Amino acid sequence: MPRIAYVNGRYLRYPNATLSIDDRGLQFGDSVYEVIAVRHDRFVELDDHLARLWRSLEALRMASPVSEPALRIVLREIKRRNHVQDGLLYLQITRGIAPRNHKFPDRTVRSTLIVTGAQRTSTDQLMALREGVTVVTLEDARWRHCDIKSTNLLPNVLAKQTAIDAGAREAWLVDEEGFITEGTSSTAWIVLENGHVVTRPLSTRILPGVTRLNLLAVLKQMQIECVERPFTVQEAEFAKEAFLTSANNPVTPVVTINGVVIGDGTPGQVTRLLQSAYQTGNGAS
Ligand SMILES: Cc1ncc(COP(=O)(O)O)c(C=O)c1O
Repeated sequence: MPRIAYVNGRYLRYPNATLSIDDRGLQFGDSVYEVIAVRHDRFVELDDHLARLWRSLEALRMASPVSEPALRIVLREIKRRNHVQDGLLYLQITRGIAPRNHKFPDRTVRSTLIVTGAQRTSTDQLMALREGVTVVTLEDARWRHCDIKSTNLLPNVLAKQTAIDAGAREAWLVDEEGFITEGTSSTAWIVLENGHVVTRPLSTRILPGVTRLNLLAVLKQMQIECVERPFTVQEAEFAKEAFLTSANNPVTPVVTINGVVIGDGTPGQVTRLLQSAYQTGNGAS
């Protein structure tokens, strides 16, 4: 079955799905994106992803080339044409195609929209959910607007590769004061001895994760105390449990941090509880 991508109004087979070398996404990373999970044939938390997309666009003073209802149709169509029942949809909007120049192009330049979708094939992720993953901490070298989901991801890419080279799955990034901000592509969480869950509060230093938002609601429903405050590397290493979240990796246990075993080195009780509560209750739409 050929994979189909949406590019600026057309549904194209992958080899034909190309963009100009003058696209500002390529030239400047001048673009925003979203990754939306599909589970059991339904989008997961689609409204929250679109709300964040619109906030990112606004923050970068960029316009969407299509209305929100039209974008929903494109997403549904890409999901259908690629037979995605459990997998991911990716969408990116760039500031469009214009001769290379740092300043914004003329208002007549239309922004670029691409949408792709893929059925999940990896068993690696299932293993990660079951057995947990390892994390190392690294300096957070990103810019000061991490709340915008832009494709300026070079520090994230470098940190992820450094983590992988060190035999870990993810890097948790650390600010100048020794507090963990978040993962390169995930939100960081720990569970304390008293059972309280801790995650960093929203600010320009972290992405407002859609999974984070919805997991906070699940925690509230379950009457599990969650404290939104910064936590240090040492606090994480000595936590009872740790886990990370993203649309692609919902509630994934973390079993070592910098080689220090978390709890007994297996996914913790609260993490397991949240894993199943989130999977069953996560507003697929
Ligand atoms: C830096 C960063 N933080 C957090 C997340 C988690 O966000 P979400 O739960 O919306 O996928 C991501 C996801 O890509 C990310 O890239």
